[in-house]
Amino acid sequence: MRKIIIDTDPGQDDAVAILLALASPDALDVLAITCVAGNVPLDLTTRNARMICELAGKVDVPIHAGCDRPLARMLVTAEHVHGKTGLDGITLPDPKMPLADGHAVDAIISLAKANPGVTLCPLGPLTNVATALNQAPEIADNIVEIVLMGGAYFEVGNITPAAEFNIYVDPEAAEVVFKSGIKLTVLPLDVTHKALTTRPRVEQFRALGSVGQAVASWTDFFERFDKQKYGSEGAPLHDPCVIAYLLRPELFSGRYINVEIEVQSPLTRGMTVADWWGVTGRAPNATFIGDVDADGFFNLLTERISRLPVS
Ligand code: RIB
Ligand code: CA
Repeated sequence: MRKIIIDTDPGQDDAVAILLALASPDALDVLAITCVAGNVPLDLTTRNARMICELAGKVDVPIHAGCDRPLARMLVTAEHVHGKTGLDGITLPDPKMPLADGHAVDAIISLAKANPGVTLCPLGPLTNVATALNQAPEIADNIVEIVLMGGAYFEVGNITPAAEFNIYVDPEAAEVVFKSGIKLTVLPLDVTHKALTTRPRVEQFRALGSVGQAVASWTDFFERFDKQKYGSEGAPLHDPCVIAYLLRPELFSGRYINVEIEVQSPLTRGMTVADWWGVTGRAPNATFIGDVDADGFFNLLTERISRLPVS
């Protein structure tokens, strides 16, 4: 059983990741969901997180609002990918569950102090996590691993030619996390672009009842950006790869390498400079995942989502 904190900017793919985690109480104890500005502004990511938990029938998970902008830059959002609401594709009822008291950064700090061995699962820009580490560096001793979605090497960038969105939005925060010395597992575009929602996979979701239908509607909306840009056969389910890695790490493979973050250049800001071939001699600091058994991933996802109550 792993105690986890999900830090997120929902986002259709974040939503599927949250559903996967909430559908796995046998393996994951979700201590809290902390929201950050990213795909859409903070007021929408906190609204979306509550709607997702209500869809899953899991309204006892504390949801905290966090940072509404990056450490040192203007916020960049991704409505062009996720739609105006951040969860376009289906209209869910307005959330009824309240936000938990306290800022997300304070929640991360207090939960890390109270739960030695906790795993952080960032699915968006790393602003909340970096701020918590800056304010309370001692929590690093209690964080057994950070498993995050972000970065790219072979796939290079999705928001600029050089950078992946989560790292691009707040490169200074990413630098704090990548230099923290905490065990780091990174799920970059290189692996998430291999987890594509092909038609048969989406129809499997749709057959699962209300939650599966929501997932299928989200991916139907979400996939248009990647199909148009990459000509891919569906949407890459970026963030669910983080939770699937926790549940079945054997589905994934990668290398323990050095990864540094570009924070200076206006041209390549947010690039994850991944030393995949070990040419720099710099000390490794991250397990950088490059491959996934996509069928195994979707079978896990479908089976787990089928466990959620049909609302
Ligand atoms: O680049 C993909 C990442 O950016 C995903 O986490 C998506 O939700 C957005 O946050
Ligand atoms: Ca995300």
